[in-house]
Amino acid sequence: MPRIFSGIQPSGELHIGNWLGAVQNWVRLQDSYDCIYCVVDLHAITGKYDAESLSRRTWDMAVGLLAAGIDPGRATLFVQSHVPEHSELQWLFNTVTPIGELERMTQFKDKATRFESVPAGLLTYPVLMAADILLYRADLVPVGEDQVQHLELAREISRKWNAEFGRGMDYFPEPKPLLTEAKRIVGLDGQGKMSKSLGNTIGLLEPPEDVWAKLRPAKTDPARVRRQDPGTPEHCNIYSLHRYFSPPGTVETVAGNCRGALWGCLDCKQVLAQHLNTALAPIRDRAAELEAHQGRVQQILGDGASRARRIARETLAFVREHMGLLPPTTT
Ligand code: TYM
Repeated sequence: MPRIFSGIQPSGELHIGNWLGAVQNWVRLQDSYDCIYCVVDLHAITGKYDAESLSRRTWDMAVGLLAAGIDPGRATLFVQSHVPEHSELQWLFNTVTPIGELERMTQFKDKATRFESVPAGLLTYPVLMAADILLYRADLVPVGEDQVQHLELAREISRKWNAEFGRGMDYFPEPKPLLTEAKRIVGLDGQGKMSKSLGNTIGLLEPPEDVWAKLRPAKTDPARVRRQDPGTPEHCNIYSLHRYFSPPGTVETVAGNCRGALWGCLDCKQVLAQHLNTALAPIRDRAAELEAHQGRVQQILGDGASRARRIARETLAFVREHMGLLPPTTT
């Protein structure tokens, strides 16, 4: 079975952008691939972060993923820092990664502007990502569009390592992104991608009243100023969310009523809220159930890390040997 790897940062709640762009795909792929999924806590410390809440956020993300349908019977789920080989491989990959390539990463350029003194971890973030994927020699990586450039770099690191140390063998594969139709979900502010750091998200586990509190003021078609103005659904972010959450008949009605100014934006949002809550209710229920059985979640993460570590150790042994490191003496 070809292998899949993907990761998600515990930088905040699991939101509908993550879900539509990546996690729904993670769930779908579980039957056809050897899937390894990871809560990447080491990535989440590359910017300013709240150390006190990190372990809770990591836990919540694991619960969210399980509630969203990651099945430990069919996939491996673990926390990145529980498998120290990720950091070790990153160090080894640092030695073949050109700094120029890291400096031209869009996310780095964007995030670096938020710092007076840029931490090295922000620059080498994509090297850790390459290590995550290649530690398991994964072929495919289900992600949203914002990660595609990082995957290009992972392919380059793979090629460079193979050329320099592979001794004629392509040991590491060149991992390719798997995108969904929802590869870039726009945030509720209608500005950029939905992202926790921009505060424009809807959380998968948020109660219906909180969802409504966020949907109510959300941006719609900018040209529709008054209720009686006919709208252009294709220019409205709320309409694009209907396409993911509402049944096809409703999506048609929404478009018709918007164009004909039969509905105001609030009417349209109320219908979206209803379908969104219907879609998310079973996930919220499963999350509550998992929170009531925390020992089970601990067991899943422990088993996941053990399995991941078995594979990671094999890769690392090969890499160490090929890079000429003296094997440790076993006593
Ligand atoms: P992260 O934690 O920002 O997001 C997790 C996944 O959700 C996707 N995503 C979106 N898709 C569509 N629309 C959006 N608005 C949206 N926001 C997020 C992301 O593309 C991602 O697939 N660097 C990665 C985590 C990572 C990783 C890896 C991924 C670390 N190691 C190895 C794949 C393989 C990140 O920050 O994702």
